[in-house]
Amino acid sequence: MDYKDLAEKATLAKSKAVPPYSNFHVGAALLTEDGKIYLGGNIENSSYSLTICAERVAVFKAVSEGERNFKAIAIAGDDSDFCSPCGACRQVLNDLCGGELDVVMVNQKNELKIMKLSELLPLAFDIKHLKK
Ligand code: THU
Repeated sequence: MDYKDLAEKATLAKSKAVPPYSNFHVGAALLTEDGKIYLGGNIENSSYSLTICAERVAVFKAVSEGERNFKAIAIAGDDSDFCSPCGACRQVLNDLCGGELDVVMVNQKNELKIMKLSELLPLAFDIKHLKK
């Protein structure tokens, strides 16, 4: 799938976000190696720290459905700038999708910025560190 199309899905996913406290809507669209797409929006909680980001909603949905191989995630935020994944999401995406994942950030002008997850999370801590 074309990353422009994936970015469009992330923008659509923003409409399902539930951010009553920040009012900052984020949408994510996670693409599996075999072409399936899982969407997520951020879901906030009155106990603020229980909020979950759009990226983690998408990846947990996919993994809980048995998906294990991922190609890219597109992320659409609510301001004019690119929305890059927070540190917690980088760690979760690294564990579940690997550093080769393409992270496709889309701004409100529909411009794309594409980076490898490994560029966003260098020297990542992962399962290899636990198996020495
Ligand atoms: N948020 C995401 O969903 N993804 C990101 O990459 C950055 C931040 C959410 C969390 C919170 O609901 C709101 O944006 C403001 O931080």
